[in-house]
Amino acid sequence: MVNFAVLGCGRIGRMHAANLARHPDASLLAVYDVVADASAAVAQKHDVRQARSVADVLDDPRIDAVLIASPTDTHVDLIVASARAGKAVLCEKPIDLDLARAERCRDEIASFAPTVMIGFQRRFDPSIAALRRRAREGEIGRLEQLIITSRDPAPPPLGYIAVSGGLFRDMTIHDFDIARFVAGEIVAVSAFGDALVDPAIGGAGDIDSAMVTLRSASGMLIHINNARRSAYGYDQRMELFGERGMLRVGNHRATSVESWTGGATEAADPALHFFIERYADAYAAEISHFVACLRDGVAPRPGFEDGLAALRIADAALESLQSGRVVRLDG
Ligand SMILES: NC(=O)c1ccc[n+]([C@@H]2O[C@H](COP(=O)([O-])OP(=O)(O)OC[C@H]3O[C@@H](n4cnc5c(N)ncnc54)[C@H](O)[C@@H]3O)[C@@H](O)[C@H]2O)c1
Repeated sequence: MVNFAVLGCGRIGRMHAANLARHPDASLLAVYDVVADASAAVAQKHDVRQARSVADVLDDPRIDAVLIASPTDTHVDLIVASARAGKAVLCEKPIDLDLARAERCRDEIASFAPTVMIGFQRRFDPSIAALRRRAREGEIGRLEQLIITSRDPAPPPLGYIAVSGGLFRDMTIHDFDIARFVAGEIVAVSAFGDALVDPAIGGAGDIDSAMVTLRSASGMLIHINNARRSAYGYDQRMELFGERGMLRVGNHRATSVESWTGGATEAADPALHFFIERYADAYAAEISHFVACLRDGVAPRPGFEDGLAALRIADAALESLQSGRVVRLDG
């Protein structure tokens, strides 16, 4: 049994707390949030201790691991403090918005040799994991192209955009990680982007629509397309194209019933609302992987280096967007 505390009881922290509370090999002992009402509600729901501070959590010798689900700008400090305290860490993405700060964090914790996993949950989505496994088993031969479509139902509030670190570090970072997961290391990045959804997002210095092209070390060509708004809901699709065929992951729906009428054919339920619903299985499997790795004494993936690699690609995409040039990552 691995004893956990959750730091940050917002949108994603509440969901992780619920997954930990029901996990057969994990035990949720405490939760903490700087907003006492937020942690009180989660503590009450799962009948666990409401910690008074981060130190209150890290000083508790019964706690083996912390799940960091607080805002991105708090991750580095919490990772360092947790590593010093000898806790294993499952930290939400991204490690930080500043690559140099994230790299300093890696150097700072190195002597503690902590177990750190980064929350790129899409790797644990059963469909994405199966696509990768089948490709590796050779089902479609040599892999040539990967197309990732990732569109959110609606943009976040402008206040969030201002502190998000930009579309590439905040949103596309999941797609960069999946590109590495499926295609291996990325060696070149070229990006276009614009504020096509809401000019106010452009006014805040960000983009809300992007098309990014990557090349992998193995020679695969990868295309990622993002939008912060999709009229038909959360759009999460993937096509992996090879010499002998294609593997495709489509959107997930509440039911698979299709309607065929005089007005429309193949009309199906809308795609599941957003990440909490679409990746529900993946978030649960992510925790199972982390718990199993702690039990077996092996390093979980995606680890800290995977978090850094995705951030490097995000920075390269931004550099390409701003310069209009292809940015190489292998030189
Ligand atoms: N993997 C994913 O799919 C996914 C999805 C959403 C968010 N995230 C990431 O999760 C993190 C949290 O996002 P969210 O949407 O849940 O945000 P949120 O604002 O809903 O929740 C964050 C919570 O952390 C609390 N908090 C702030 N500082 C804290 C501190 N020092 N210690 C403890 N608690 C603190 C806040 O009071 C708030 O309740 C972000 O890094 C975000 O990028 C990941």
